[in-house]
Amino acid sequence: MASFATEFPTVTRPRVRRVLCKPLFLFFFSPIATPRDGVAINRSNRKLTMYGAMKEQAVALVRQAVAEDDAGEYAAALQHYVHALDYFAAHLRYERNPKVRDAIAARLPGYVSRAEEIRALLDGQAGREGVAAEACGKGGQRKKDGGADGEDDERGAERAKLRAGLHSAIVSEKPNVRWDDVAGLDGAKQALQEAVVLPVKYPQFFTGKRRPWRAFLLYGPPGTGKSYLAKAVATEADSTFFSISSSDLLSKWMGESEKLVANLFEMARENAPSIIFIDEIDSLCGQRGEGNESESSRRVKTELLVQMQGVGHNDDKVLVLAATNTPYALDQAVRRRFDKRIYIPLPDLKARQRMFKVHLGDTPHSLTESDFERLAHRTDGFSGSDIAVCVKDVLFEPVRKTQDAMFFFRSDGSGGTWTPCGSRQPGAVQTTMEELAEEGMADKITPPPISRTDFEKVLARQRPTVSKAELDIYTRFTREFGEEG
Ligand SMILES: Nc1ncnc2c1ncn2[C@@H]1O[C@H](COP(=O)(O)OP(=O)(O)OP(=O)(O)O)[C@@H](O)[C@H]1O
Ligand SMILES: [Mg+2]
Repeated sequence: MASFATEFPTVTRPRVRRVLCKPLFLFFFSPIATPRDGVAINRSNRKLTMYGAMKEQAVALVRQAVAEDDAGEYAAALQHYVHALDYFAAHLRYERNPKVRDAIAARLPGYVSRAEEIRALLDGQAGREGVAAEACGKGGQRKKDGGADGEDDERGAERAKLRAGLHSAIVSEKPNVRWDDVAGLDGAKQALQEAVVLPVKYPQFFTGKRRPWRAFLLYGPPGTGKSYLAKAVATEADSTFFSISSSDLLSKWMGESEKLVANLFEMARENAPSIIFIDEIDSLCGQRGEGNESESSRRVKTELLVQMQGVGHNDDKVLVLAATNTPYALDQAVRRRFDKRIYIPLPDLKARQRMFKVHLGDTPHSLTESDFERLAHRTDGFSGSDIAVCVKDVLFEPVRKTQDAMFFFRSDGSGGTWTPCGSRQPGAVQTTMEELAEEGMADKITPPPISRTDFEKVLARQRPTVSKAELDIYTRFTREFGEEG
């Protein structure tokens, strides 16, 4: 009998590329690793015990896969590698001989990585064929024979449909968020300006080896301004801005998602300079091999990887911007494609102080600089969104006061407006908002300016939404993979 070392076929193919394949450990821990349907267990193996048969079958399948791999029949080879791995995994559950276990375990990584390479190769081919087919449908080189024409028409129609869907992703109306509206985050703002403004305004800066940034990942706790920053980019940059939410991609376009991704990048290139913003990218690009990963999401991910790699395209003028608050959940291959990964942390004291002012805007208030400073001190641990919510609440305090007021006074004598006041205020009139309205003076009632006590009242019932423990995760990720924003 052949030794175990020679019994298992060796894979000697060159490494191509590794993406998106069930990782090795899953073959060992998958709950039921039964041989798949449709794979006939040959007759002689039936005489062996079930578990012996599994190993024999696995070896036979690997042999077949290697032969097909050598012959360039990759699809078949992939199928057989995967089936073989299932058989090996099932066998290892029962194998008691440590030597046999070690021999099998030593060979498996080779099979897995070859299977991954083939899958990547096939996915890449499928992606390229899709793009090529669509490029043909664009006009120009249509085939003349009737059948092919029909197919082309069909593809053209499909492409038009996908593109029509994508048009709604183009942000044509500027969201009206300026750089200055984003408080703090100076590092992130500067990096984004470098990436989106400079290359368009001063293309001559980017000669030789100096290339603009291609992909930005903004990560950090919820409500710290990642999406808000993207809005500022859309407003300030002179580029076509595509805003895509991953959940949209996966739900609305089930089955067509990867084509949609290909079209998205194609359109972005046509409309360059452009920015593709993918919000909540984690829901699109979670770790590979996760139990709930569907075939369609796997294909979308692959397509995104291929497109972001930009092989064969001049992608200097397409910037991918993505945001997530679970950076660890991102597939590492996707993570690697982002050449800048910027941490968007909770706002610091100065940023919080600025945020209160930004959100108050030109609403009348009586707060002094030191009041704002006190508010900033009071709101340590608050996110930008917490502060936005707080201010929103505060903005209504004067309205509430007006609704509840029992006394009003009129500024400028008889021609002025009615403002709520205390009973002891000189000129105070005992009345209510409704009564004034009934007398036809609804448009003469003005709420009082916002005061510090309004803030105190609202802050007394508000708590920060991000916990300290959550922050540690981001700090760790930044140490490992990111940079401070
Ligand atoms: N740095 C900031 N400057 C001004 N406003 C901010 C800032 N950060 C957050 N905000 C306010 O908080 C709101 C929510 O922020 P945003 O939607 O950008 O959070 P996010 O980081 O994308 O959160 P999530 O991860 O949950 O999507 C914004 O609309 C804005 O009003
Ligand atoms: Mg967001």
